[in-house]
Amino acid sequence: MTDSPRILVAGSINTDLVMQVTAAPEAGETVTGQSFATFGGGKGANQAVSAARSGAQVAMLGGLGKDAFGQQRLLDLQHEGIATETVSVFDDLPSGVAIILVEPGGENRIAYVPGATWGVTPELATSAIERWNPDVILATLEHRPATLEALWREAAARDIPVICNATPEPADGRALALAASMLVVNEVEAAALLGRDLASGAWPDAARALRDLGPAVVVITTGSQGAVVASGDGTDVVPAPQVDAVDTTGAGDAFCGAFAAEVGRGRSPLDATRVGVIAGSISVTRRGAQPSMPLKREIDAKLRAD
Ligand code: RIB
Repeated sequence: MTDSPRILVAGSINTDLVMQVTAAPEAGETVTGQSFATFGGGKGANQAVSAARSGAQVAMLGGLGKDAFGQQRLLDLQHEGIATETVSVFDDLPSGVAIILVEPGGENRIAYVPGATWGVTPELATSAIERWNPDVILATLEHRPATLEALWREAAARDIPVICNATPEPADGRALALAASMLVVNEVEAAALLGRDLASGAWPDAARALRDLGPAVVVITTGSQGAVVASGDGTDVVPAPQVDAVDTTGAGDAFCGAFAAEVGRGRSPLDATRVGVIAGSISVTRRGAQPSMPLKREIDAKLRAD
């Protein structure tokens, strides 16, 4: 095992248009916001940045349009040392965009349009694995299902573990999520995959129930409470440190990138979850998705302090 594993991250690359509001509007209502900012985002790209800042060698499987947003997002990834040969630039598709409203306390509401992310074909997915030869694949459900199926197939043929962050809208990608080696979901996504409401406190049972459906490791991230991990070693609750959250956008992505880097290093699911929880807890203390992803040394310092 290497300290700097090779990770292929598959998912969206978006530009986040973020408004700070006192309270998000109801249907038909207009509210006056306090501030506006543009950040690099997209669950895939955020996770790639998190994994790279956690010390992994990262390549991104994604799509961008030939527009100003796309050019800027490509530069962002390259600036992080992320390999972008497997990012396709399409003439006829716009780059992905997310509209995000953030309330005091950091809670957010997000709507996004994948745009060029949906231009990534099954052939591009297969060739990305051939080119990058990853130790681990980390994928959201943001690419088209056929593209993800090709990614899963090629990974299985090469015995490469797939960590699936089953988001957004996990019910649509249920078969893919449950076919992954490791599954990471939040509480809402866990309930959607299990097809039932879950009371808070039911997360250990839910993680075990999801594990019974296929993945060898299941993590349910539980926001400010931390995470629950179920694996062949048992089920553990990993509490998060108390922090003052200003923006929770990308907290799950911070978790996934740092978690994947640790899995690639050969750490146990429990140890990888501990690191992921710290990464998420640092990210919520900063604004924006990609700018909030912590460095490995920040995570290590926090782990030593706790
Ligand atoms: O997970 C956060 C991300 O979700 C944002 O960066 C936004 O782009 C949306 O896709």
